Amino acid sequence: MTIRQFKAVALKELSSSPSPALDIDVLLCFSLNCTKTHLLLHYNEELPLENLLWLEKAVEKRKTGLPVAYITGHKEFYGYDFIVSPSVLIPKPDTEILTARAIDVITDVILKRPSSVLTVCDMCTGSGCIALSVLKSLIDEPAVPRELIPAFTLVDISAEALSVARENARHLIPDEYLERVRFIQSNLFEEVPFLFNVILTNPPYVPAQMAAELLEDGRNEPLLALDGDAGADGEPASSCDGLSVIRRLLPECAGHLVYGGSLLMETGEYNAETAAGLAKECGFKGVNILRDLENQLRVVECHYQSLH
Ligand SMILES: C[S@@+](CC[C@H](N)C(=O)[O-])C[C@H]1O[C@@H](n2cnc3c(N)ncnc32)[C@H](O)[C@@H]1O
Repeated sequence: MTIRQFKAVALKELSSSPSPALDIDVLLCFSLNCTKTHLLLHYNEELPLENLLWLEKAVEKRKTGLPVAYITGHKEFYGYDFIVSPSVLIPKPDTEILTARAIDVITDVILKRPSSVLTVCDMCTGSGCIALSVLKSLIDEPAVPRELIPAFTLVDISAEALSVARENARHLIPDEYLERVRFIQSNLFEEVPFLFNVILTNPPYVPAQMAAELLEDGRNEPLLALDGDAGADGEPASSCDGLSVIRRLLPECAGHLVYGGSLLMETGEYNAETAAGLAKECGFKGVNILRDLENQLRVVECHYQSLH
C-alpha cells in the first residue's frame, strides 16, 4: 500500500476526529521518521510492511479517542520535543503564553540585577514543559551569563508525572545544567521548604463537572491534572468553580516567594478574574491578567508585596 492509499483509507477511519488529516500526517511522519515535506514528495511510494502494521494499530487507538501525542509518546511545546505518557497532561499551546512571559520576566531580572542566581519553582510541573522550556530558552540566549542561569525546582504530587519530567530534563537539558534542576514530589508546597524569586504554575483549574465531560471523549488525560475542585486530601472540595486547588495554592505561593517575587499562574478563561481577585486577597500586588492567542483571559501575573 502506498502512503497516498493509506492516507485515503485512514481519513475514512478517522472521520470522527476533529483533525483527521493532521492526525494521519503526524502518525506517518513519526512512523517513517521524516518531515511533512518528505511525506509529500514520496506520496506514491510503498509503505514498508513494519510501518504499515504500526500505522494500522495507531489508527485503531486514535479511533478510541486516544490523542496522537499519547500514541507517538511525543508532543512539541514551545518548539521543543517533549516526551509524554498518560501520566501527564499533554502540553497545550495556551500554556506557551505563560512560558514566553516567564522567559521575559526572568531574563529582565537577571540582566537588571546580575548579582545572584535566581530560584524558580514550577509548581504542578507535569511533563516539566514550562520549567524546561524556560530553562532551555535561557541556556540558548547568549545575553544571559552562563553563571546566572537560574536554579529550577519542579514539583508535582504525582511520582509518575515527575519521572516523565525527569526524562524530559535528561532529553532536553545539556548535562552541565542538569544539576540546576531538582524534582520534589509534594502536595503543593507541603514538602518544599524553600523560597523562590519566581513561581510558575499551571495548576488543575477546570471545574469538576467540566473535567469529567472533557474526559468522556477518550482522551485519557489524568483527572488529577484537570480537576480544579479537588480538595486538599484528594476528596471533592466544596467549590464547583474549579478554583479549590488555586484557593489553597495562592497563600502557599505568598509564603514561598521572596519579597518582590513574581507569580505567573495559568487559569481558565471562565475563572481568571476570580483567581486574580483571590491573588489580591492574599496580598499580591500589580495583579494583571494576560490573554492567550485566542484573546481569552489565561494567565494571572502578580508580585508579592512589591513590584521591585
Ligand atoms: C494542568 S496540569 C499541568 C502540567 C504542566 N505543567 C503543563 O502545563 O502542561 C496540573 C499538574 O498538577 C499536578 N497536581 C495536581 N494536584 C496537585 C497538588 N495538590 N500538588 C502538586 N501537584 C498537583 C498534576 O499531577 C498535574 O501534573
